[in-house]
Amino acid sequence: MSESTEVEGRRFPAPEQLTAEANVGPDVYQEASADRLAFWAQQARRLTWTQEWDEVLDWSNPPFAKWFVGGKLNVAYNCVDRHVEDGHGDQVAYHWEGEPGDTRTITYAQLKDEVSKAANALTELGVDAGDRVAIYMPMIPETIIAMLACARIGAVHMVVFGGFSADALASRLDDSGAVLVITSDGGYRRGAPSALKPAVDDAVGRTGSVRNVVVVKRTGQDVEWTEGRDLWWDDVVGRQSAEHQPESFDAEHPLYIMYTSGTTAKPKGILHTTGGYLTQVAYTHWATFDLKPDTDVYWTAADVGWVTGHSYIVYGPLANRATSVMYEGTPETPHRGRWWEIIEKYRVTILYTAPTVIRTFMKWGEDVPAGFDLTSLRVLGSVGEPINPEAWLWYHEHIGGGRCPIMDTWWQTETGAHMITPLPGVTTLVPGSAQHPFPGISAKVVDDEGNELTNDSTGLLVLTEPWPSMLRTIWGDDDRYVDTYWSRFGKEVYFAGDGAKKDADGNIWLLGRVDDVMNVSGHRISTTEVESSLVAHPSVAEAAVVGASDPTTGQGIVAFVILRESGQDSGDELVQTLRQHVAKDIGPIAKPRQIMVVQELPKTRSGKIMRRLLRDVAENRELGDVTTLTDSSVMELISSKLPAASSSED
Ligand code: PRX
Repeated sequence: MSESTEVEGRRFPAPEQLTAEANVGPDVYQEASADRLAFWAQQARRLTWTQEWDEVLDWSNPPFAKWFVGGKLNVAYNCVDRHVEDGHGDQVAYHWEGEPGDTRTITYAQLKDEVSKAANALTELGVDAGDRVAIYMPMIPETIIAMLACARIGAVHMVVFGGFSADALASRLDDSGAVLVITSDGGYRRGAPSALKPAVDDAVGRTGSVRNVVVVKRTGQDVEWTEGRDLWWDDVVGRQSAEHQPESFDAEHPLYIMYTSGTTAKPKGILHTTGGYLTQVAYTHWATFDLKPDTDVYWTAADVGWVTGHSYIVYGPLANRATSVMYEGTPETPHRGRWWEIIEKYRVTILYTAPTVIRTFMKWGEDVPAGFDLTSLRVLGSVGEPINPEAWLWYHEHIGGGRCPIMDTWWQTETGAHMITPLPGVTTLVPGSAQHPFPGISAKVVDDEGNELTNDSTGLLVLTEPWPSMLRTIWGDDDRYVDTYWSRFGKEVYFAGDGAKKDADGNIWLLGRVDDVMNVSGHRISTTEVESSLVAHPSVAEAAVVGASDPTTGQGIVAFVILRESGQDSGDELVQTLRQHVAKDIGPIAKPRQIMVVQELPKTRSGKIMRRLLRDVAENRELGDVTTLTDSSVMELISSKLPAASSSED
C-alpha cells in the first residue's frame, strides 16, 4: 500500500472531551433539517436587533433573496458596543503583532472608541449611508477600525488586497464608484517597508469619484501629498469625539463589496448585506471552531483583504466576542518559526489557515514547529483549496500534536461563510474531504442534467436552497449575477463552479474548479484576466493561460504566448519582462510561473483554445485526445519546447 492510500484510509473520531464540551452536538443536523428557517431564525437571535424581522426569508423572486425581512440592526454595535455594555470592555479584541516585532493590544472598549471616532470622521468627510469607501491597507488595526466605521454609518466598504496593483485598484474604484479611499503610507512585509500610497495616487488620478484619501501613518516613509484631497488619519480621526450613536439599518442594507475573479477579464463585485451575513458568519465561527469567548485565543492567519479575513478575522470573531491575534507580516520573517512563536506567545487555541501555507511549512521541516510550545492549540482549520491528505496529516501531527481536530471548510467569496465542513466534537474526520453541508445548508453533487450523484461519481457542486450569508448580486450587474450562478440548473439552484464527488458515507470531496478560474495559493485568478494582461503587452499577439498543478501553491500559472513579430527575441529576458508586466498589471500573485513562447496555439475547428491539452503539456502528462484540433502537429511542437517544470517560488 502506498503512503498516500494509508493516509486516505484513516479516520479520526472526535476527541471525547471535545464531544462533551463542544458548542454544538450531533442533534444540530436534525434540528436544522426539521425546520431550516426556524433554525436560522434561532441563530439570528444570537445577535442584537433593534427591530425583529417579519419574515425569515423572502424567496419569491429567485435568485434575489431577502433574509430577515423588515429586521433592523447595526453591525458595528453587534461586533463591539454590546460586548462593552455587557461588561466585557476590558477583554482583548486583538493582540496585534507587527512584522518588525512591535505590538498593540486593543480591548473591546478601546475598539469602541476608535470605531466611533472613525465613524465621526467619515461623517465629517461627507460619507453617507450607501456610499462606497475603498480600503487599501496593510494588516494593521486601523484596517478593521475603518471597516467597522463604515458598517456603523451604513457606508459600503470595498477592501482591496494591498498586494493588488494600481490598475486593479483603479478598476475597482471605478466599478464601485468609491467616494473615499482609506490607505496607509505602507506596511511591513519580508523585513522591509512596502509602499501603498503611490498606487493610490496613480489609481485615484485615473478615476472621477474619489473626493478624499485618508492616510494612516505606519512606516513613516515619505509620501506624495495632494493638498485638499489627502488627509492624515491621525488628524481627521484623532480630533473626533469617541461618542457616536449607531443607527440601525435594514437587514438587507449593503455591508460590503468584495471583488473576485470570475471567468472573464472583469472581476465581479460580490455584494454582501447586513443581517443574514452577520448571522451566518457569527454562527459558523462559533460552531465550526467551537469558539469559547472567555478562554479561547483565536487566529485566522490570512489577510483582511480576502473574504476569509472579512468573515473570520473581523465579523465572525467580533460578533462572538472572541479574543483574536492579528499578524502583519509573512511567516518567514525574521525566521521560519514566526507563526509558532506567535502561538506560543499568545497561547493561541484555534488556528485557521490555508493548505498552501501548510505545504510550505512541510517543506521547511517539522523541526521548525517542534522548537515551540504549541500545546495551547485545540482546534485547527483549513480553507481556500482542497487539503491533500498528506498535508492534513502533517498539520494534525506536527502542529496539532495529534489531538486537534481539523476543520476543512469549503466556502467562497460568494457564499460569505462556511458551507461544507466537519464540526469539532461531532464529526469523525476524513482527511482530504470537507465532509458535510453545515447545518441549515443544502448541497448536492449533480451531473450535467442536474441529477443527484452519490457513490463516488464525479459531478458538479450545487447549493439547492438559499442561505443567509449568500451574495445578493454582482454590484451593478443583476444579469451577470443570474447568468453566472443561477442559470445552469434554473433560477433556484446555485452552481458553485467546483467539481465534487460524494462517497458512500455521504462525505463530499471537492475536486477544484471546473471553469477557467485558477486557484493559486488559495487565491482565485481568472485565466482570461492573465491572458488579457499578456495580450495588452506590445510584444504579444495571442496568449493562453492554464493552471497547472503545483506541489506547494495548489496550482501555478503557465502561459503560452505567440509573439507579434516572428524573429523577435523570445529569450529569457522577454519572458521575465512579460512576467513582470502581469505582476504590475494585476498584482504579484498573478505572475505566471512559466511563460512559453510558441508559434501556434492548439485550437478546435470552431476556434476555441484547447486549454485541456495545454494543461497536459504544463503538467508533463501524456496528451489527451487531439482529434478535434485543426492541426494536431501544433501539440508536438509545443510539447517539444516545454522545459521541465520550474519552481513557482521567486
Ligand atoms: O474552488 C473552491 C476553493 O476556493 C474557491 C473559492 O475561492 P474564494 O472565493 O477566493 O474563497 C476562498 C476562501 C473561502 C472555491 O470555489 N475552496 C475554498 N475552500 C475550499 C476549496 N476547495 C476545496 N476545499 C476547501 N476547503
